Amino acid sequence: MKYLGLHDIRKEFLKFFESKGHLILPSFSLIPKNDKSLLLIGAGMAPMKKFFTGEEVPPAKRVTTSQKCIRTGDIDNVGITDRHATFFEMLGNFSFGDYFKKEVIPWAWEFLTVNLEIAKEDLWVTVYHEDDEAYNIWKDVIGVPEERIVRLGKEDNFWELEVGPSGPCSEIYVDRGPEYGSDDERPGGEGERFIEVWNLVFTQFDKDEAGNYNPLSHPNIDTGMGLERIATVLQKTDNIFEIDAIKDIIKRISEVSGTEYGKDDKLDISFRVITDHIRAMTFMISDTIVPSNEGRGYVLRRLIRRAARHGRKLGIKKAFLSEIADLVIDSWGVEYKELVENKDSIKEIIRREEEKFLETIEQGLVRLNSHIEELKENKKNTLAGKDAFKLYDTYGFPIDLTEEILKEEGFKVDMAAFDEEMNIQKERARSAREDSNIGWSNQEDKNLFEGLSNEFLGYEVDSCDAKIIKIISNNEEVESLSEGEEGIVVLDRTPFYGESGGQVGDTGFIYNDDFKLEVIDTKKTKDELHLHIVKVVEGQATKTKVKAEVDYKRRNNIRRNHSVTHLLHKALKEVLGSHVSQAGSLVMEDRMRFDFSHFEAMTKEEIEKVEARVNEKIFEALPVKTTITDIDKAKEMGAIGLFEDKYHDVVRVLSMGDYSTELCGGTHVKNTSEISMFKILSESGISNGVRRIESITGPAVYNYLNSLKSEQEEIASELKSNKDEIVQKVKANVKSLKEATKEIERLEHDLAKDQISGITDSVKEVNGIQYVTSKFENVDVNTLRDLADEVRNKVGSVVVLFATVNDGKLNFVCAVSKDLVAKKISAGNIIKEVAKVAGGGGGGRPDMATAGAKNIDKIDEALDTLTKLL
Ligand code: ALA
Repeated sequence: MKYLGLHDIRKEFLKFFESKGHLILPSFSLIPKNDKSLLLIGAGMAPMKKFFTGEEVPPAKRVTTSQKCIRTGDIDNVGITDRHATFFEMLGNFSFGDYFKKEVIPWAWEFLTVNLEIAKEDLWVTVYHEDDEAYNIWKDVIGVPEERIVRLGKEDNFWELEVGPSGPCSEIYVDRGPEYGSDDERPGGEGERFIEVWNLVFTQFDKDEAGNYNPLSHPNIDTGMGLERIATVLQKTDNIFEIDAIKDIIKRISEVSGTEYGKDDKLDISFRVITDHIRAMTFMISDTIVPSNEGRGYVLRRLIRRAARHGRKLGIKKAFLSEIADLVIDSWGVEYKELVENKDSIKEIIRREEEKFLETIEQGLVRLNSHIEELKENKKNTLAGKDAFKLYDTYGFPIDLTEEILKEEGFKVDMAAFDEEMNIQKERARSAREDSNIGWSNQEDKNLFEGLSNEFLGYEVDSCDAKIIKIISNNEEVESLSEGEEGIVVLDRTPFYGESGGQVGDTGFIYNDDFKLEVIDTKKTKDELHLHIVKVVEGQATKTKVKAEVDYKRRNNIRRNHSVTHLLHKALKEVLGSHVSQAGSLVMEDRMRFDFSHFEAMTKEEIEKVEARVNEKIFEALPVKTTITDIDKAKEMGAIGLFEDKYHDVVRVLSMGDYSTELCGGTHVKNTSEISMFKILSESGISNGVRRIESITGPAVYNYLNSLKSEQEEIASELKSNKDEIVQKVKANVKSLKEATKEIERLEHDLAKDQISGITDSVKEVNGIQYVTSKFENVDVNTLRDLADEVRNKVGSVVVLFATVNDGKLNFVCAVSKDLVAKKISAGNIIKEVAKVAGGGGGGRPDMATAGAKNIDKIDEALDTLTKLL
């Protein structure tokens, strides 16, 4: 057996299959394109499903890759065992209707036994129990002894995903020898002796959502060899955590934490969690995933937080993951250049997420621990869903982490109740979002439009001659539309842009001498058919020749707003970093909004910088050029955008000078100077990790400036100043207002003092008890209490009863000195009786009480009751 390092095995594999006529493709992104059935790419074939089914033409019939993969099904076991992982690389060779079993089996054998020098005697194979063809190739062509060929059922030897290409398979195992298990063990069992290294899938079916296996028109080959797995064999290690590049990660963690791997079972778990998760997170972020609370972003968040938590278990106090990521980037960067290119933003995103988590984890842990105590006390074993949700919602505790921590203590979460809480929150968020989906797809009735197509001329012209080829009214085909009626009109050729790619549909007119239709909106079906939503404004519309004319003024504004999204996209990448990528956009006549991935609110400086940069590019008057080309060329040109289109398909690449190159199907200005000017109106967060910019261009900026100007003039006129001096004038006014307020306070205080000296002079006596009453106006209750207190202090032994009328409300305050309280005279009792006279009520302590009342005219009568009471 040949010793090879992880990065060398990969090279050797790709080179081997290149020598067998395969095209080496770089790994596809971890984000599946146009495939809703997958969250993340978890197999070499997953990004190539459409090549197998024939929906797309592959760049070559023989392809080989080393594919970055993430599988999260076993995430809870990662670390706990040394066999589970979320991140791994899959080496694969693929045939799209080219070679089949009799080629692939000998090649696999050759690579393992010749290139990797694995002893033939150590290799075992399994085949699908009904697959005699594969069995015989192994036996007769390769010469594997029959006792080392094992037939297994669908469970083991049939490969499939949820949906898509699938088929029977044959697996190759390495026998690791008797030190790993008994001689009775066989491949496919539970034991440790046989390690599966390569899966050869004979892809013959396309499984649909209903679970039917539909035969493919041609058979294919899909193989997968776990890179880390084969490395453990060649490097004769027990598990993937001991192979060369991965061992380095463990070593780095050891240095940072000051603990050693292999000394303590519990700590080893943490080592392995971090070692696995760090690669997963680094690769995910490099593929533009950012931490969030949903989908892939949530998986990432969970990985970072789980790793961070295990760092603490190793005694690491600070954020440390980005430092470990450094090593991953340097090491795996030899094959995955994107890691090196995105190094700064990868590290930054990890650092931020970890720090944010460390801040909240303390509080969350305290809370969770108190829940655990409660559970123990109440002899319960399940944490309430709403408590778990609160931890998630308020403390950013991923539910899985809560579950994991609880599990460590022997408890669980009421998940049904948690999900319920989660749904309630989602519903709240959903109804809060404005519903922009107009449900057009309902109208997209296949039968009505089947077989129709039209030519789109709107990139070149705003108007053209055309012919109406179909008219629809109320979901039915009709021959004509009368004045006032609404319907859908299909033309053989059209300048009207149908709503797509975030750009709204065009409006305008379709007319001839006999009738005139107002185009209210234009939509596009999945098959690129343009549908004009119209209203007849004159005459009766029939299937005849017409002139189609787009409202070009509106179209011009839409163009400006669309073109500026490209400048903005680029400027955001420049100012914020390469992790920024477009998450959506809405291009309208009067404004546009642009959603993009970024982990925090932009600062005022960043917004200004981005805005300035975009305007700079507008003022530079860059020519806008459209190139129609294929995907490969587009990539060569450095175009950014969603490469969702099919291979070899024609794509439009839009470039603005040397500044921006992007795939785009929208309508655009011919020169950036046409945009005239760009102004950002707002920047906000729309969900975790996604920000939104709303902005205007051209005439809208002009209108905006005018409205600012009239506002300014209005302020100036209110201030009786001219507009050049409004800032000074406002400052001066604020200052004098402050001084005036201080003066008023001072005067009020003096006034109150004067009143008090008057009051203390008017002390009366009944039954040997001193008392004083007084009325005030426009003094609030708090001030009145202070006054009462002051009078009480001054006089000594006294009952004070004050009334005040303030804003039409009557209030009483009563204060009783300590010596009188001792004689059982209570302010609370007094105030109750007094207020009652004026139709109110209240109460308080024996030494101080307040009350409110309604009848202001009873104020004197109420105050007079005090003598009687005393
Ligand atoms: N698609 C096969 C697997 O992932 C090769 O095992």
